[in-house]
Amino acid sequence: MPNSWKTDVVYQIYPRSFADANGDGLGDLAGITSRVGYLKDLGIDAVWLSPFYPSALADGGYDVDDYRDVDPRIGTLEGFDEMCAALHAAGLKVIVDIVPNHSSNRHRWFQEALAAGPGSAARDRYIFRDGKGPNGDEPPTDWKANFGGSTWTRVPDGQWYFHLFAPEQPDWNWNHPDVHREFIDTIRFWSDRGVDGFRIDVAHGLAKDFTEPLPTAAELALIPAGPNHPFHDRDEVDDIYREWRRVFNEYDPPRFAVGEVWVEIPERRGRYAQPDSLGQAFNFDLLRANFSAGEFREIVAENLEVASVSGSSSTWVLSNHDVVRHASRYGLPLAAPGDGSFPPPTLKRDTAWLLTGGVNPPEDTALGLRRAKAATQFILGLPGSAYLYQGEELGLREVAQLDAAARQDPTFLRSEGADVGRDGCRVPLPWDDHGPSLGFGSGKPHLPQPEWFKGYAVAVEEADPASTLSFYKEALRLRSKLLQGVTDEDFAWLEAPDGVLAYARGTWQVWTNFTDVPVDLPDGAILLASSPVSGLLPRATTIWLSK
Ligand code: NOJ
Repeated sequence: MPNSWKTDVVYQIYPRSFADANGDGLGDLAGITSRVGYLKDLGIDAVWLSPFYPSALADGGYDVDDYRDVDPRIGTLEGFDEMCAALHAAGLKVIVDIVPNHSSNRHRWFQEALAAGPGSAARDRYIFRDGKGPNGDEPPTDWKANFGGSTWTRVPDGQWYFHLFAPEQPDWNWNHPDVHREFIDTIRFWSDRGVDGFRIDVAHGLAKDFTEPLPTAAELALIPAGPNHPFHDRDEVDDIYREWRRVFNEYDPPRFAVGEVWVEIPERRGRYAQPDSLGQAFNFDLLRANFSAGEFREIVAENLEVASVSGSSSTWVLSNHDVVRHASRYGLPLAAPGDGSFPPPTLKRDTAWLLTGGVNPPEDTALGLRRAKAATQFILGLPGSAYLYQGEELGLREVAQLDAAARQDPTFLRSEGADVGRDGCRVPLPWDDHGPSLGFGSGKPHLPQPEWFKGYAVAVEEADPASTLSFYKEALRLRSKLLQGVTDEDFAWLEAPDGVLAYARGTWQVWTNFTDVPVDLPDGAILLASSPVSGLLPRATTIWLSK
């Protein structure tokens, strides 16, 4: 019997946009508790909650003030326990997000570091440096942060601190024992409360070597991620996760973990997934791929290999809170193949499209949804875990038109609008086709919902057997049935026409036509199809067959 988390379907909840029980416009934990019935009916195995900790929301909650508490605007620890109990009673596991690369600038230890001044022990928990230039008023390096601007921010006494992301997110110094202790305490705290697993933010970034002289930005760009890079995927991250694994294994059952690992070289990514490390690592390759048989096949083959070498299972993700929703991505013209450099052409296309408010090129919404359902059904057959993002089960598209005044993402704010950022996939869910926030809550939602959301409301789709929601439910129900008696090793590619991918999991077969034209239908009894089938396997469609 496989370890169940290795094949789980995990549903990502972005708590502030899921359901708002107290009517303040911000989703909350009581909102999640009130929707446990929905989550159970959907047929998922686990939920992963993006951060719900106290935060000034400089980065949607990934700027954590206190790792062991709940943002009072969205709940309490008692409310967390109630939510956890309700999810467990419904047979669902609970995964919480740990953000160990950086805290917020309001964390007690950052505040202490600011007050204690240069050279103090308190500053050593973070990464403080003197500046360059005669007055030290130039940053220590010319590196660019992930959301734009410098990676260094100056404090009033003249020193600079390092942040890979926004200035409100100072990076921890993982060479400091207190930092290790803080996170061991945090993991124990949530594990003791009954949490089943953890998603580790920026898992590849914790270990740093800032020995002088530091490279310039131009030099940095030429250093491959790995042991020689000052902060990207250094070998010492392994020691951190081995330390955590010992703690995870103190529990029965051992706590599960999945790393957010943006590491290109598959073999290096596999380290994070090893049983003595986190156990699982995200594979984000499909987030950057076109809807293309060639691209999908290469990604699947490579990641199944990594999973088998690392002794873990693969992960499949088509949408999350950081990217344009896949129903929209697939409604845009395919991007030209890339040369492996970053950003890939698909990401450039998505950013450029968002900048036009989703107008240019026009989105083919019917084709986007059709391909999205086909891609989802394709990944749900694969060995390993699938991660779904709230709202994709409704077929939601990206909200590409949002007023500048409504935008919250630091990417938008720090790039001065050059990149509009990720708010478009974080708009509160429509539960109903009427009411002040379409059933999300009784108040004004913290990001405005477009008029077209009404047609995608849960209540509307629940009443329609042909809806995307009904399709997801059926797919998930069938998946868990079909997986009985199938192991991760039961996987074989089948011969298929150009532009079609087919694989077998024992007697269960998955066929996806990635092309724009129908092809001959393979033999077998059709169990599920992502679009209606008659006589041929239509364009952009997946079918599950029993042979
Ligand atoms: C990855 C998270 O998914 C993203 O939302 C966040 O902005 C960065 N890490 C920084 O924490």
